[in-house]
Amino acid sequence: MTTAVDILVERLAGRTPKVGLVLGSGLGGLVDEVKNPVRISYGELPGFPKSGVTGHAGELVAGDFNGTPVIMMAGRAHYYEHGNAGAMRPALEVLQGIGVETLMLTNAAGSLEPTMGPGSVMLITDHINFSGSNPLFGEPTDKRFVGLTQAYDAEMRAALEAAAQKTGTPLHKGVYMWFSGPSFETPAEIRMARIVGANAVGMSTVPEVILARFLGLRVAACSVITNLAAGMTGGELSHQETKDMAPLGGARLAAILREAIGGF
Ligand code: HPA
Repeated sequence: MTTAVDILVERLAGRTPKVGLVLGSGLGGLVDEVKNPVRISYGELPGFPKSGVTGHAGELVAGDFNGTPVIMMAGRAHYYEHGNAGAMRPALEVLQGIGVETLMLTNAAGSLEPTMGPGSVMLITDHINFSGSNPLFGEPTDKRFVGLTQAYDAEMRAALEAAAQKTGTPLHKGVYMWFSGPSFETPAEIRMARIVGANAVGMSTVPEVILARFLGLRVAACSVITNLAAGMTGGELSHQETKDMAPLGGARLAAILREAIGGF
């Protein structure tokens, strides 16, 4: 049987990316910076998500990103689309199957810090899984008991911090709290999130971090802040706001990634 790995290896025509990047809202444009690109739509690869969220494309782009062989995933599956926290597992297994060892995750998030406003970038240092779910539900082996004490790779984080310094790009650091979505949080939930130690909230990434560690991939993640969280301003939150504001921080995160990628 032809597997997604077989198809991808053939389409890559000798390219051997070692770094995978998952592009969240505001970062999709990064695929245009890939030199000598091969573009593969998720639809060609069994097990890849059928991404239905506006602002998420559903395409793999492999080639050189600022001199480093990478494979970018423009578009991800979210837990809130179907209630399956493991929806990204087949795709991440395929990346691992073609030799990817390092995974850089990005997302859009709401900030709990008034001093970390829209357009900010936050390096995720740790997370809180508040979804009640886990991508490893149903995994029958003892491998499911994944340690997450040092989930976010120290070397990758150092490379990201150094890149931020070098490019003069402000980079916040903090704890990301995963809410299932798709509804936004309530002001009471945001007050709770602050009490338990979160700095940003969002609807993705944590399942991918858990899966990455399960698969033995090194992983790091950054959030692009699109808004202050629920109840922190007078207004209501919306997906439109997320899409409108993501490019602001996205451009900053892109500057960091261009510089950091060689140090992963
Ligand atoms: N909450 C959850 N997810 C988000 C937010 C938010 O405020 N902003 C962007 N993604």
